[in-house]
Order: sequence, then structure tokens, then C-alpha cells
Amino acid sequence: MNETFLQACRGERTGYTPVWMMRQAGRYLPEYQKVRGNISFLELCKRPELCVEVTLQPLRRFAMDAAILFSDILIPIEAMGAELFFHEGKGPIIASPCRDAETVGRLRIAPPEQDLPFVQETIRLLRRELDVPLIGFAGAPFTCATYLIEGGSSRFFYETKKMMFSQPRLFHHLMDKISETTILALRAQAAAGAQALQLFDTWAGILAPCDFEIFVLPYVQRVLRKLDDLDLPLIYFANNGATLLDLSARTGADVLGSDWRVDIGDAIAKAGRMAVQGNLDPLALLLPAEELKERIGRLLNGARDACGHIFNLGHGIHQLTPPDQVCLAVDFVHELSTR
Ligand code: CP3
Repeated sequence: MNETFLQACRGERTGYTPVWMMRQAGRYLPEYQKVRGNISFLELCKRPELCVEVTLQPLRRFAMDAAILFSDILIPIEAMGAELFFHEGKGPIIASPCRDAETVGRLRIAPPEQDLPFVQETIRLLRRELDVPLIGFAGAPFTCATYLIEGGSSRFFYETKKMMFSQPRLFHHLMDKISETTILALRAQAAAGAQALQLFDTWAGILAPCDFEIFVLPYVQRVLRKLDDLDLPLIYFANNGATLLDLSARTGADVLGSDWRVDIGDAIAKAGRMAVQGNLDPLALLLPAEELKERIGRLLNGARDACGHIFNLGHGIHQLTPPDQVCLAVDFVHELSTR
């Protein structure tokens, strides 16, 4: 087992900087498209043997130092009782958004052994195949709440903020239920063999820091505290989180994810003794080879004083990215960081 990724998460010295990429499995790979040709995304997420195949696809092409479970942050949300659809090109849709006490009250705290057995099975199967660590994940409670309240993706998050500001007790109740489901889901992933856990807070960046502190931070802290005894690296990634780094450093995570809008040196300064993960602009993968190499070199250099650096993108790989560019980037990271 290549443990470089886990060592960097723990802040230990490594022979080179480990790299993986958010959304490293997915539509930019023709072999993924081929699997998806016969099956819907949601069905795919529930078929362990296909999830294993799709998780392994990027690892066959690129020298990634970690694998990430193939699933989706909305899978546990569906298990809570929300009716979930993925419409081609439109992203996720939740049929009956949760905007009042009744719909929030109906949500269940989903027991993963019963409701998400396919996730655990995927993890067990993957561990037999992998020689790099496997990352499990969940959506952070706030990001999950936005999908439940908005009924899908959103531009202004009107309904979410309306509930936060006009029915704060209901909002807290919803966050409470999602947090409990998330704790159970992540503990089940760890029990099945996940070796690190990441919380994706894709939409945290829409909030003022004062609201993040009241409505988001306590729940991330609770989730991570309830995972502490597992003794696995815990990663917190708030997309568009430049203004939230001080608060994100108080979540209790071991690794602070950072998007590309932040200078890596600033992220490291805020991270204190936490390791840092990030933060190449996903579209910088389109740079010509020499410029890509130079950009990666600058990032590695900027991170040389971190208490652990895991190279990653600042968000997921864009679907139009040529796979060969990903290959180049991974190899440049290894070449330029070998000590
Ligand atoms: O990183 C990986 O390779 C693991 C798999 C993974 C997926 N989704 C697969 C996926 C992970 C970690 C996620 C997380 C996820 N899902 C997030 C947080 C990360 C982020 O991107 O901010 C969010 C917000 C979601 C919700 C979600 N799922 C959206 C908004 C969409 C549509 C987006 C799009 O690109 O169209 C999905 C669908 C989805 N999840 C796809 C994949 C590969 C595309 C589905 C397809 O095949 O059509």
C-alpha cells in the first residue's frame, strides 16, 4: 500500500507530494461515458461492481496517490426520504423541496447498513483492488441542506436564506437531521474500509462569515467530532471559501481544502498545524505543457512550508478536460516534488 497520501494528511514528511483530483472519475473519461451509456447516473451509484469499475478508471490511466469512492453527496439525502432525480445536463432535482416543518419532520435519519448497503459493498470490493488509500466522503450538512431546500442547484439560494433568516429554528432542525445522517453514513464508510473522509461544502461560500459561524460551523464541528475516534484523516473542503478559511480552520478537520481563488501560502498560514489540500484552478489543466509545469512548480513551491500538502484541484475536474492533460499534471507533480 502506497501510504504517501495518508502521511501527508498527518503532516508527516513524504518522499514527494501526493496528488489526487476531485471528480477524478466522471464524464471527461470516455470509459466512464461508455459505462453511463447503458445506465442512469442514479442506477450506477447503486451498483457496486460498476462503482468499483468507475472508481478504478482514473487509476488505470494516472498515477493518482488516492482513490475516491464513486458515489454522490445526494445519495444519503435520497435515503432520508427525498425523491431525487438527475436530469441530463440539468443536475440534481429534488421533487418535493423541504421548506416547512412538515416536510422537514418527515425526513428520516437514514441507517446506512439498511439504506446504503451498496456504498459499503463498493468500499469492501475496492479495498481488495487498491494499492493506494481509499477516500470516503459526504456532503457537508449545509450543502446538503441547500439541495433539500432549493430542490436542486440554485443561483441566489433564496429559499435557503429565507429559511435561515425567517425560520432559524426550523433551519437548525434540518441541519441537525442531516448531520446525524452524515455521521452514520461516514462511520459506515469507515467501518467498510474507507481510509480518509472528506466533507464537501460546495455552497458554503455563498454565506457571510457571521452566518457561517452560526448556521454551518457548529454542524461541521459536530460531524467531525463524532468521527474523531476513528483515527482517520478528516478533510474539510469549502468551495469558494477564501473568506471562511479562519473559521474552516476551527472545524476540527486534519486537512483544510482550498479552492484556487486563494493563494496557497495564505491557505497554509490560516491552516496552522493542519495539512492543506489543493488548489490548482481546474481549467489551468488546459494550459500548454510547459506553462502547466511552471504553474504546478509555483504551487508546489508555495506549499513547501505546509504541515503536509496534498496536491489537488481547487474544485472538480471540468467535463471538457482532455484526459492527457490530467496525466501530464499528475506526472509533473511527482517529478517536481520528489525530494
Ligand atoms: O470525485 C469523484 O470522482 C467521486 C465521485 C463524486 C461525484 N459527485 C460523482 C458525480 C463526488 C465526490 C461527487 C460529489 C458531489 N456531488 C458534490 C460535491 C463536489 C462538487 O462538485 O462541488 C456535489 C455538489 C454533488 C451534486 C451533484 N452530483 C451535481 C451538482 C451533479 C451534476 C453536476 C454535473 O457535473 O452535471 C452531480 C452528478 C454527478 N456526480 C456526476 C458525477 C460523475 C455526473 C453524472 C453523470 O454521469 O451525468
